[in-house]
Amino acid sequence: MIDEPATDGVPALPDGVEPVDLLTGLCTTRAIRRFTSEPIPDADLATLCFAATRAPTGSNRQPFRLLVLRDGERATAAKALLGTSFRALWAAKREADGYDHGTGADTSSPKARQAATMERFVDRFEDTPVVVLACIRPWRGTDLTVGASVYPACQNLLLAARALGYGGVLTMWHGAVDAELHQLLAIPDDVVIAATVALGRPEGHHGTVRRRPVQELVFDGGWEQPAPWATEPPRHPPHGSSAPLGPDRLQAQFPAAEVPKPQVWRAKASRCWPATPASSSPSWFDRARPRSTSDDAFRARSVVGAVKSRRVSMSAARSGSASSAAAS
Ligand SMILES: Cc1cc2nc3c(=O)[nH]c(=O)nc-3n(C[C@H](O)[C@H](O)[C@H](O)COP(=O)(O)O)c2cc1C
Repeated sequence: MIDEPATDGVPALPDGVEPVDLLTGLCTTRAIRRFTSEPIPDADLATLCFAATRAPTGSNRQPFRLLVLRDGERATAAKALLGTSFRALWAAKREADGYDHGTGADTSSPKARQAATMERFVDRFEDTPVVVLACIRPWRGTDLTVGASVYPACQNLLLAARALGYGGVLTMWHGAVDAELHQLLAIPDDVVIAATVALGRPEGHHGTVRRRPVQELVFDGGWEQPAPWATEPPRHPPHGSSAPLGPDRLQAQFPAAEVPKPQVWRAKASRCWPATPASSSPSWFDRARPRSTSDDAFRARSVVGAVKSRRVSMSAARSGSASSAAAS
């Protein structure tokens, strides 16, 4: 029986960790894929998990669970499974997204450096200090709205890591070994692994968060209606300029000038909003993931798969109603 917890108060920061204000944390939390070998002590990990579990969920149902993998026997075996899956899926993505072509051929280009970071991440996946499987028991199918009751917890986990000087990345690359993980870790069949979050102490420097200008992403009062008030806010050097980025980097993170927009992410972001309707043909992820007996189960369970098939069935329904309208 778990005692009824206290409902107020927030965790104390560990000694020596400077506070990071909320906006600074939100605007500077990068996807971290390079970790030192330093373990995350129990007390810090407890704080990260506590913060994650404070996330909102629909109707406050709290249907998610965090399965933490560190260095026990089963955890080690699970990390090895994940490492295999990560390497296979990254290799497929590398090929499909042409990481080695175009500017990627120049090893000093952002594209090539990104590929090198990914390569290192997957090669050393088993050494990741902490891996968290964010799981959810869907209570009404596996659509987008159900996912919304687990991903806020993932983001809280990453933000809390930022606050304590750690870093991490949310990934979906457990897909190829989903069934094997269920079996190994005794995860019930009706529980979905919604994300794999890698966590550790960041190694090296991590640059700025690169995002489209806010005006491109915000509409006012109607689809694609500009929001003239949605301007870039005045910026200042962030508070709490320590972990996980050095003060000089954080300073550089908030230049008055517009952030750079390298081709890599712009091209990817543009693909999300194509001029023509989204295709229902399989993505690189579907093509690359080894098909196994677990495949249908994965697809049925996968929040991502469900979102995709929902999109397809919605467009099928639309064209169906269009053709029946045409027939009548
Ligand atoms: C829904 C979602 C899925 C993601 N899947 C992966 C993944 O499978 N592998 C990976 O390395 N990173 C993955 N990421 C991390 C993104 O690539 C990263 O957050 C994004 O590129 C922005 O990085 P930045 O904050 O460092 O600029 C995912 C992030 C999200 C939110």
